[in-house]
Amino acid sequence: MTSGDAFDFARYFARVHRGALWHEMHVGMAVYAGATRPGLAVLDVGCGPGRLVHHLQGQRVQIVGADADPAVLAKSHSLFPGLPLVRALAEALPWPDGVFDAVLAGNLLFLVAEPLVVLREMVRVTRPGGRVALWNPSEHMSRAAAAAYVRAQPTLDPFEQKHLVNWARVAENNRRWSAADLQSLFAHTDLIEFESVTVIEGLARYVRGRKRPA
Ligand SMILES: C[S@@+](CC[C@H](N)C(=O)[O-])C[C@H]1O[C@@H](n2cnc3c(N)ncnc32)[C@H](O)[C@@H]1O
Repeated sequence: MTSGDAFDFARYFARVHRGALWHEMHVGMAVYAGATRPGLAVLDVGCGPGRLVHHLQGQRVQIVGADADPAVLAKSHSLFPGLPLVRALAEALPWPDGVFDAVLAGNLLFLVAEPLVVLREMVRVTRPGGRVALWNPSEHMSRAAAAAYVRAQPTLDPFEQKHLVNWARVAENNRRWSAADLQSLFAHTDLIEFESVTVIEGLARYVRGRKRPA
């Protein structure tokens, strides 16, 4: 393969972030976390091309995005100049303990080698009593289920239809989590008050918890 054949993830995901359904689900995670109030200090880990960061900045949230991929961050800077973004590994976030009111991660933990390491790091930088929320494919996600979902949504943008099936393929090759799976992950951290809901007909799952008060 020549470098000209390389898959341009930053470009692809910038297109994903333009999709109305994806954006609605992304914002839904922030709403579920209670992270949309003006003045809250919020971190979006694995922020990708930054549309959620941009959206929350527009709500006057003190939002910061973190992502490991310099190409993704460059794309985000070209789309949203001046957005507060930091190049960082989710496994070693460059902030002191307890500085954020809420920490979010959309479609990150199901991909990483050590989800518990990332979740503990998210909890570390959350203040006692603050929120952590995740969005990932649920145990019901599959290529067949995603294809059936998009068939039932004929007005959905064709790119979003294809992306949902791609996302299902990535999920099949990584992780698809039930509420019980994620509850046991949360049980190995300082998070309490585990809660979970599914979206898009059960194919994706939000979970949230609260960092144990000091
Ligand atoms: C599937 S995209 C999700 C982007 C966005 N959160 C969303 O839900 O649309 C995952 C993002 O996480 C970033 N990422 C993957 N592994 C990471 C890690 N270990 N630390 C920080 N970012 C990571 C990738 O660069 C990518 O931008």
